[in-house]
Amino acid sequence: MTKRLLQDQKERFEKLKTPFYYYDTDLLAETLSVIKCETDKHEGWHLHYAVKACANPKVLRQIQQAGFGADCVSGGEIRTCLENGFPADEIVFAGVGKADWEIELALEAGIQYFNVESIPELEVIAEIATRMNKIANVSFRINPDVGAHTHSHITTGLAENKFGIAKEDMLHVIQVAEGLPSVRFVGLHFHIGSQILQMDDFEALCYRINELQDELEAAGIAEVHNINVGGGLGIDYDNPDENPIPDFKSYFETYAKYLKLRPGQRLHFELGRAVVGQCGSLITRCLYIKQAKQKQFVIVDAGMTDLMRPALYGAKHHIQNLTSSIFHHPSSIKYDIVGPICESSDTFAKDYLLPESRRGDLLVIRSVGAYGETMASQYNCRELPQAYTTADM
Ligand code: LLP
Repeated sequence: MTKRLLQDQKERFEKLKTPFYYYDTDLLAETLSVIKCETDKHEGWHLHYAVKACANPKVLRQIQQAGFGADCVSGGEIRTCLENGFPADEIVFAGVGKADWEIELALEAGIQYFNVESIPELEVIAEIATRMNKIANVSFRINPDVGAHTHSHITTGLAENKFGIAKEDMLHVIQVAEGLPSVRFVGLHFHIGSQILQMDDFEALCYRINELQDELEAAGIAEVHNINVGGGLGIDYDNPDENPIPDFKSYFETYAKYLKLRPGQRLHFELGRAVVGQCGSLITRCLYIKQAKQKQFVIVDAGMTDLMRPALYGAKHHIQNLTSSIFHHPSSIKYDIVGPICESSDTFAKDYLLPESRRGDLLVIRSVGAYGETMASQYNCRELPQAYTTADM
């Protein structure tokens, strides 16, 4: 999605009620085909798209039709995926706190496997499966204790995080599973964090998995059908036009080079942000320009309820004024770009250079395809944002 294309949509955007998400499904198609091309080079490599990044039905359908499975973290996500064409056996289910009804739903539907995060959870899954007369496929999420160079709120693979089973306990949990007739142990699952741009973080994960696999082999546990390495590949938030498609080549090559799979073993990925992040924009309208003592504010009609990332993580998104395009007016004024919510953290950017902006101008907040719409809330009794795709324009 280039700036030019967004500019081209300006007239159509003008007719729509703001704020709204806009998904560039042409860019999504291109992104999906790059991923497909990289994963198809390797026998047994498969991507389960991390639905938490964006669960917009049109986006989900497109991803499903491109041949990907789904990584879900709630019963709601499983339902949404089933409704949008994902076959149950293409769905994996993760999360530290699966409720009984969610486990039942997953077993009833016949999902591919559960990513299990603790022994108490394993026991509940086994109990429910026995009651339902089913066999539950389980994969264990192992905390690899590998740090990632990313925001502390979105690193997950350290021993101090709540996720996964300590690597020292791996053999024990597999043995427990082997003693439970209603569960089948199928694999190992890992995830070290999100928005990771340094390939050596993934390389470190590969070394750790290799070590663990050696340990399993030494203990005589031969049958590990799947290795699931989670997601985490980041996107270029600063330059969405220059880098609309993440560096999938380096990402997948890292796994091809450093991960030692055993014969017949399948490798699963759970990318979310890298798949959809650059495809989404949030279109918002400038309500007021407010001159304060030390600052000039652009007050827009989107708030942290529509896009939570800046308020929650201090995330930076590229912002453009579509109406006074920088092609015509240089970005020359420093603004704080803020929303209407009654919270000081409802700020999209501080001291941000934009061309002179006026009431009524359309602004676009870029790279919000992932963890944008899915994290929207109704705080202040606001409506959830609408969403459109290229086909709707
Ligand atoms: N697999 C597991 C087990 C995960 O926990 C996650 C993300 C993914 C896959 C997908 O990760 P991705 O490829 O998208 O990095 N709301 C935050 C991001 C939270 C990520 C949570 N887990 C944000 O807006 O940055």
